[in-house]
Amino acid sequence: MVDPASHANVHIACIMDGNGRWAKRRGLPRTAGHTAGEENLAEVVRVCAQRGVGRLTVFGFSTENWVRPPAEVRHILSLHKKLFGRVDELNANNVRIQWIGRPFNEPGSRTPAYVQRAITQAIADTAGNTGMILTVAFDYGSRTELVRASRLSAQLGKVTETSIESHLYDSEMPRVDVVVRTSGESRISNFLLWQIAGAKVYFTERTWPDFNVQEIDAALKLIHAT
Ligand code: FPP
Repeated sequence: MVDPASHANVHIACIMDGNGRWAKRRGLPRTAGHTAGEENLAEVVRVCAQRGVGRLTVFGFSTENWVRPPAEVRHILSLHKKLFGRVDELNANNVRIQWIGRPFNEPGSRTPAYVQRAITQAIADTAGNTGMILTVAFDYGSRTELVRASRLSAQLGKVTETSIESHLYDSEMPRVDVVVRTSGESRISNFLLWQIAGAKVYFTERTWPDFNVQEIDAALKLIHAT
């Protein structure tokens, strides 16, 4: 039995890869893989909340993902609306939603108004929850985040680790303890490059829709391994 209290300070970050391959293996369209991926994310959120994990941050949509076929992009965006609409479940599990990505009012932001509304509403609707913080990275790219943080720091006349940290999209976000990447790809992508310094990395062959409770426990175990 895992002691929930022991994971209260744990921060897991997931690169949810392999939805397309999951679908292809089943002779389904890629969109079906993303649908299954969103459903599995809801399950992973529930399990992590029950394990007492403090923070879960997921790579929902990157600044590079906009070049995918328009129908696939539309589908992934609709799944974000679905995820941000799971307020009853999130509240039942005491989960607070947060978001990181290009700020809506800044040049370069591409988040459509309906996704902006879904994000803003979910943040407000779960603001009172005191358990796990689920941060969804949407229209997120780490290099863009770091260039912006460096520029804002420089405008204030000093560039230090502390000043950069205070200008990240979420200045309160603690360091990541373990990065998970599914589907057999052993690389990091443009995800939380500042925040993952020192993190363990958990790679698994399983595609994201098949990422399960045993895998979550294995990733958690890796944090404490020497
Ligand atoms: C990778 O699969 C996944 C993404 C591009 C991100 C989208 C993630 C989801 C839809 C899961 C649910 C998450 C949210 C936040 C709604 P891929 O298409 O790159 O898979 P492939 O490498 O097998 O082609």
